Amino acid sequence: MDSSLKTQFQEIVGASNVIDDPTLYGPYTDDFTDHYKSVPLAVIRPASTEEVSRLVKLCAEKAIPIIAQGGNTNLTGSASTTEPGKEILISMTRMKKLLSADPASDTMTVQAGMTLEEVHEKAESINRFFPLSFAAEGNATIGGCCACNAGGVAVLRYGTTRELVLGLEVVLPDGRIFNGLRRLRKDNTGYDFKDLFIGSEGTLGIITAVVLKLYPIPQQKETAFVSLDNPKKANELLNRAKLIAGSSLSAFELISELPIGRVAKYLPDVEVPKLTASPWKVLIELSLEHPTKDSVLEKLLESAFENDEILDAVIAQSVGDAKTFWHVRESIPLADRTAGGSIHSDISLPISSIPQFIEETSAKLKEAFPWLGLSIYGHLGDGNLHFNFVSPQDPKLTYQFENQIRDILYGEVNKFEGSISAEHGIGMLKLEHNYQFKEPLEIELMRKIKQAIDPKSIMNPGKLLKQ
Ligand code: LAC
Ligand code: ZN
Repeated sequence: MDSSLKTQFQEIVGASNVIDDPTLYGPYTDDFTDHYKSVPLAVIRPASTEEVSRLVKLCAEKAIPIIAQGGNTNLTGSASTTEPGKEILISMTRMKKLLSADPASDTMTVQAGMTLEEVHEKAESINRFFPLSFAAEGNATIGGCCACNAGGVAVLRYGTTRELVLGLEVVLPDGRIFNGLRRLRKDNTGYDFKDLFIGSEGTLGIITAVVLKLYPIPQQKETAFVSLDNPKKANELLNRAKLIAGSSLSAFELISELPIGRVAKYLPDVEVPKLTASPWKVLIELSLEHPTKDSVLEKLLESAFENDEILDAVIAQSVGDAKTFWHVRESIPLADRTAGGSIHSDISLPISSIPQFIEETSAKLKEAFPWLGLSIYGHLGDGNLHFNFVSPQDPKLTYQFENQIRDILYGEVNKFEGSISAEHGIGMLKLEHNYQFKEPLEIELMRKIKQAIDPKSIMNPGKLLKQ
């Protein structure tokens, strides 16, 4: 990097927070999916909104493109470089302060680089609960969750990130600070910029602080691992669960046999609950605000058993049991990563179509690629599946045919009136397919908004929208 530019960056964040030695880039440049290897001009680590604003002003002046990065746990290349040596990577991980807490309003305001796990701890320290949750929460930052509108395992009861955020502070592409840190449930004064920045994948500005919506801590959780014959039975169980458990139904995860087998094979320390053998499992959780005398989950499972929806079930007898069940589910991405060569997807479908979708799409893919392993699991209660692909023989084979595999998958998603991304976003990975399937008018409006807010296109270029 040009030495006068380096000095200017150093003046803003301090010498030790401008990293341009590639041997120190690892955590910032090694992508979780192994698809992208970043080569930034430098990694810069600001500690305050003021510093972010000064950095962005300098970059805007010099037309240097910027990529903001949280925990680098995204699955779409949305925080990776597009051109070697051209972009600076702004890591938000030093910005992790609790700015204020207002339990009486059920809100908390934090800097964007706080990890999701730390957010949970801070909420608990004021006797509240922040529901967003997924396996990478130890590293994922709340700012990254907002940028990608993260989903996770509790959307069914509490909604996606978009529904869990009340306000945002954002550094705009010219360095000005947009102060939207309002703690309001209702604010009906015009276009909703909060909802525009959430899910914009860093293409409109850098989220620096967030007002979060908090909930009472559930007083009782009931968790079960269930075996059943097919996704149709899982849908019947889901409907029964909604009727019997109502709004306390907080998670309903469908898992096929293949990913469970891979967890057992690649992560032998993970304990898989013993159940009657079956091609499909469901992990179901109820979160009750008040303890009940009789188990709601037992009543639900008894009734499902009597109606031949399920084959077998094991109910967690302790918090430890529930953790064990969740550990199996949440270890699937790590097992995939350990095995290598896995292709991820995060499709969204009308819940009622899912059984037919799985049957038809699996048949099509198997016909085209008889060697392909289908690793299907996900948030059935949200209509969101991870329809993933593995190659049991040669892990590299999947990557070789990745585009054709995605063509078939997304073609079917489109036919069933679904979306190619429910929760991971577009990034670079799904850019072409998003252009193929999204309404041209929607792409045109997105482009106009991008042009209005970031006319020099310095914010995360090449993600979400083509350059
Ligand atoms: C999951 C992540 C991959 O649900 O979205 O495990
Ligand atoms: Zn998921």
